Amino acid sequence: MQLLDGKIVSAAIKEAIRQEAEILRLQGKKTPHLAAILVGNDGASETYVAAKVKDCAEVGFDSTLLRFDAAISQKNLLDQIALLNDNPAIDGILVQLPLPRHIEEEAVINSIAPEKDVDGFHPVSLGRMVNNLPTFIPATPYGIMLMLEHYQVPTRGKHAVVIGRSHIVGTPMSILLSRNTPYGNCTVTLCHSHTHNLKELCLQADIIVAALGKAEFVTADMVKSGAVVIDVGITRVADDSKKSGFRLVGDVKFDEVAPRCSFITPVPGGVGPMTRAALLKNTFHAAIARLE
Ligand code: GUN
Repeated sequence: MQLLDGKIVSAAIKEAIRQEAEILRLQGKKTPHLAAILVGNDGASETYVAAKVKDCAEVGFDSTLLRFDAAISQKNLLDQIALLNDNPAIDGILVQLPLPRHIEEEAVINSIAPEKDVDGFHPVSLGRMVNNLPTFIPATPYGIMLMLEHYQVPTRGKHAVVIGRSHIVGTPMSILLSRNTPYGNCTVTLCHSHTHNLKELCLQADIIVAALGKAEFVTADMVKSGAVVIDVGITRVADDSKKSGFRLVGDVKFDEVAPRCSFITPVPGGVGPMTRAALLKNTFHAAIARLE
């Protein structure tokens, strides 16, 4: 069993980006600049956004964190995004999800200028991805593809079962794995809460991507010997022995599944760091594209 180590791979990607950003700066061209919007004070979202801001600093990007009260009106939020769209100093814009219930996520995502849509959630970005055109690929599926590439995990002709059809992970993941690219060309089954015989489908899978958000859902009896298992889940489970009061658990029961696998991602330290590295890649490309 080979561990797919997101910490090691993301560190290498970040170092490459840091060097490229330094060259850009020394050439007097620009410093990539990410704007992150956080609405309200959800604990997990706070952690994620803080990590994204820290990552920017580590690779020499500028970042601006805009925080708004959970009661901000949709109109006010859209006005703030319009200012960022028009601000030539800003290369990438991300709005941390989820948003408070009174704000329509779709309206917010659609208001981001596609050339600054580093999360890749805008319909223009998604449409370009489907058509295999250069675009921003959502960070988590992009990070997973970079991981498969780094470890040269064979994908061509394999049966991939993706569990979860979110717009952020499952749906784009199913598209990327099925495209005609070096780490695509899978036959993909996209499973969700209405899927019958999920266990039987998983047992046929050469590759399982677990992205349903249910702690330790995938158990050893669902995994074929030699399978590749990618665990996207990250759930906080109360644990008094930890200083934070919780531990992080994936969608896969790692201890019993790992011995069956050819490759598996740990949680934490697997997909999470790759997602962050992929966002930096998207931000860098946004900055370069806007130079041209
Ligand atoms: N919430 C959960 N994942 C993500 C992500 O990748 N981007 C943003 N903006 N919000 C998220």
